[in-house]
Amino acid sequence: MKRVYIKTYGCQMNERDSEAVAAMLRARGYDIAPSERDADVVLLNTCSVRDLAERKAIGKMNLLAHLKERKPELVLGYMGCMAQSRGASLAEKQSAVNLVVGTQRFHRVPEYLDEIFAGDGDAIVDVAEESGSESTIKDHVLGTNGDRQVAGFVSIMQGCEMYCTFCIVPYTRGSERSRPIAEIVEEVRRLVEEGVKEVTLLGQIVTSCGRKEIRKKNGKSAFVQLLEAVNEVKGLERIRFTAPHPKGFGDDLVQAYADLPKLCEHAHLPVQSGSNRILKAMNRGYTREWYLRIVDKLRAAQPKIAISTDIIAGFPGETEEDFEQTASLMRDVQFDQAYIFKYSKRQDTPAADMPDQVSEKEKERRNQVVLEILNSGMARMHQKLIGQTVEILVEGRSEKAGKRMFGRTRTNKIVFFDGGERHQGELLPVRIERATTITLYGDIAIHNL
Ligand code: 5AD
Repeated sequence: MKRVYIKTYGCQMNERDSEAVAAMLRARGYDIAPSERDADVVLLNTCSVRDLAERKAIGKMNLLAHLKERKPELVLGYMGCMAQSRGASLAEKQSAVNLVVGTQRFHRVPEYLDEIFAGDGDAIVDVAEESGSESTIKDHVLGTNGDRQVAGFVSIMQGCEMYCTFCIVPYTRGSERSRPIAEIVEEVRRLVEEGVKEVTLLGQIVTSCGRKEIRKKNGKSAFVQLLEAVNEVKGLERIRFTAPHPKGFGDDLVQAYADLPKLCEHAHLPVQSGSNRILKAMNRGYTREWYLRIVDKLRAAQPKIAISTDIIAGFPGETEEDFEQTASLMRDVQFDQAYIFKYSKRQDTPAADMPDQVSEKEKERRNQVVLEILNSGMARMHQKLIGQTVEILVEGRSEKAGKRMFGRTRTNKIVFFDGGERHQGELLPVRIERATTITLYGDIAIHNL
């Protein structure tokens, strides 16, 4: 039996795609290898969102190419976003590469591997578009490592048509395609039957899900209709979704946080910048004031809500004044979490050719400033949590945190605690005893559990 190792870069969507490819490979008689050392095939599922992610994957492939010199039968492939944007050039530049498969053709990987093993050594490149590809990612590999998987991912839509000027995603993931609500609900139901208690609805721009196919009903968008339907699934405890666009947070979605008991008290609202001038240049479609109003509305609808964001430091043309607007927005909102990125030029995106690109050194400085604001806010917030009892869903054991067990609160904060395997998959009340800037430690609140 041939053994395949898949290494994943980038976002949760990529993780989900890799899982689906693994399931399809198994169904075709391949084995999934736990590491590249004992694999016959190594596939890199790539990310293009920033240059660093691409460089990492290319560097990895160079190392694998060396390995292949000693082990010539090793099959190597690229899948996903970088495969989509760079296509055949990947196999041309790195002759050790046998396979390049784009984001709409993941489901063809097993048959291509069959062909490669039977064939004459020519590389296979397929980055075509395919209608209906949004429905090809659905089989799951649950419990592959013997653990009971408690949190599942469901792909609900693919593609993005927002065309933010910095972003490569519309070019790597194609136009927006959504799965029907009934099909998504059915998949959630099946996951719950297998023991899943929490689902994360996934897509490049989930708040757009169904907007082309399904009309608003009682003022509710297709996405909110979907949340309501998933909320009805018996046995499911928690619903999350990612990645949304702030423009998707209409009053209907805000109200859903008050109305739907399973919807977790967490909203990821990627703001990118606090300057109206820069938001316009980014083509984000909202202003600072509009964004702050959404934050207020969410907190009014659901006082316990945690809000996280994405920030880009040093977008082309960002002046010191623009940047100060971002810093002040960070102080005003007090985010629970933020992912801060230095602007990275992406091939063929409008921002790559904009004048007044910011120097690396200045981007680094701005990144640090925003990070410090975030960290001091998070440290304060964590101190306030000490002594409180929160509900976590226990996901497993952490090798990094001294082999402690860990779980996630509904507000998406990770809590470490001393517990046993019997807690895996349980919803558990824990009392927060100790906190650092980024980590919470708790004790099981009820001792006879
Ligand atoms: N440079 C830096 N960060 C980027 N992101 C997307 N494109 C770029 C880019 N060219 C960030 C955005 C987005 C997150 C997923 O990645 O903040 O929300």
